[in-house]
Amino acid sequence: MGTMEEASTSSLNIEVGLKVNTALRFYHEILGLNNLHYGLWDNDPLTMEGLHAAQSRYTDHLISYFPESVKTILDAGAGTGETSEKLKARGYDVEALSPDPYQQYLFQKNRNVTFHLNKFQNFKPRKKYDLILMSESCQYIPMDGLFSNSINCAPGGYLLINDYFITHPDNTAMSKSGHDMQIFYQKARDYGFELLKEEDITDQAAVSLDLARSWLDRYVMPSIDLLTYSFRRKHPKLLKFASWLMRNKVKKFNDDIMLLDSEHFKRVKRYKILLFKIPV
Ligand SMILES: C[S@@+](CC[C@H](N)C(=O)[O-])C[C@H]1O[C@@H](n2cnc3c(N)ncnc32)[C@H](O)[C@@H]1O
Repeated sequence: MGTMEEASTSSLNIEVGLKVNTALRFYHEILGLNNLHYGLWDNDPLTMEGLHAAQSRYTDHLISYFPESVKTILDAGAGTGETSEKLKARGYDVEALSPDPYQQYLFQKNRNVTFHLNKFQNFKPRKKYDLILMSESCQYIPMDGLFSNSINCAPGGYLLINDYFITHPDNTAMSKSGHDMQIFYQKARDYGFELLKEEDITDQAAVSLDLARSWLDRYVMPSIDLLTYSFRRKHPKLLKFASWLMRNKVKKFNDDIMLLDSEHFKRVKRYKILLFKIPV
């Protein structure tokens, strides 16, 4: 069992191209979230308890998509391992993969599941899986590597994707993350993948953004206002200089706030569940 000190980024064996994602680490360590996905909301209260209920419902819903023949699963982009653990508890033979050394540390500490530290597109499987699960990790994986390596990992098996895709790009930061939906469908066809089932859960997923926005308005913005107010009173010139120095970070922060607009999200993106049959 490691200590938190051992988990620090510097002490981890970070291979070339494998980095700790600080945003995901923040969600886990500071917000205490074990699931790093949007969840499936159903009139839940807009609170941490509501988020937990929505995330648990989301995983159950994903599992309902598994064809009966499925026994072995590769949880590709496994986050903190909550889903892998749940699958294992339901009797599936699960292995997990992520390129994030911090997540590897969490698996070693908390989970009794084989973990592969790698990007999915570079992973060389030692066995064939019945199903590959990409729960909000598809957007990080380049399309060609995603389809070609799915055939190596699970020929004749299934690929279950739950993620958002861009459908109406509008030149804002909102259009920057996620694969283009039409290109994704086309690539799937080019690689011989058959789309067996599809569901649009945008409305039930986007509620997470409303929750994040309400936390931001309630806690983060007033704290920033208070800090800048007292700093401006004491060091007006220094504040001006610091704002100039941090201008890129301020722009990034403002862009990130824009990403919490659920109505904008719904205009630009669709959150989908896609079950594919993988060719042999
Ligand atoms: C938003 S988190 C989702 C985590 C988890 N599946 C869940 O539903 O809570 C995205 C995950 O994808 C992983 N990831 C990022 N790039 C990847 C890649 N190229 N191949 C596989 N996983 C990747 C991240 O490290 C992280 O575990």
